[in-house]
Amino acid sequence: MTVLDLGCGTGYFTLEAARLLNNNGKVIAADVQQGMLDILKQKLKNSELEGIVEIHKCQDNSLNLSEKVDFILAFYAFHEMKYIDNIISDLARIVKPETKVFIAEQKIHVSKKRFNTIIAKMENSGFEICERPSISLSRAAIMKLKPTHTT
Ligand SMILES: C[S@@+](CC[C@H](N)C(=O)[O-])C[C@H]1O[C@@H](n2cnc3c(N)ncnc32)[C@H](O)[C@@H]1O
Repeated sequence: MTVLDLGCGTGYFTLEAARLLNNNGKVIAADVQQGMLDILKQKLKNSELEGIVEIHKCQDNSLNLSEKVDFILAFYAFHEMKYIDNIISDLARIVKPETKVFIAEQKIHVSKKRFNTIIAKMENSGFEICERPSISLSRAAIMKLKPTHTT
């Protein structure tokens, strides 16, 4: 399984996702800030997870990724993106029909209206909500491609 941790920051969820894979796949830890990726690289150094995590530098307006992935975590990430439309259309190109995209945003930073705008942008790119998980202090949705959508 290939997991994309989009906007991974210093890798809080990257490390946990890598552990959960149990040596059966990899996590692509992607961020625009080289400083964040450097901290994550340092955390991984000489650990058993080093070979499971691939550090990936995005651009503000591009994911820079063509590899298909099985699961995408976008935790507290979309609200920081300057070119969210570009990133969402890039996401639509790297998902498989069964890929799930987990989106969470902090309530204090992202209003219901803004969260719904993010969801609408995803819907315009061919995604639909398949689950509404309850995450403390957060707005969250799990999305996947609409069955009719072709990548
Ligand atoms: C609030 S942090 C969340 C970090 C991590 N997901 C967590 O929950 O601990 C948001 C991250 O998104 C990153 N980010 C902003 N725009 C991005 C983009 N276009 N592509 C990838 N990452 C981006 C920022 O650099 C930042 O590290």
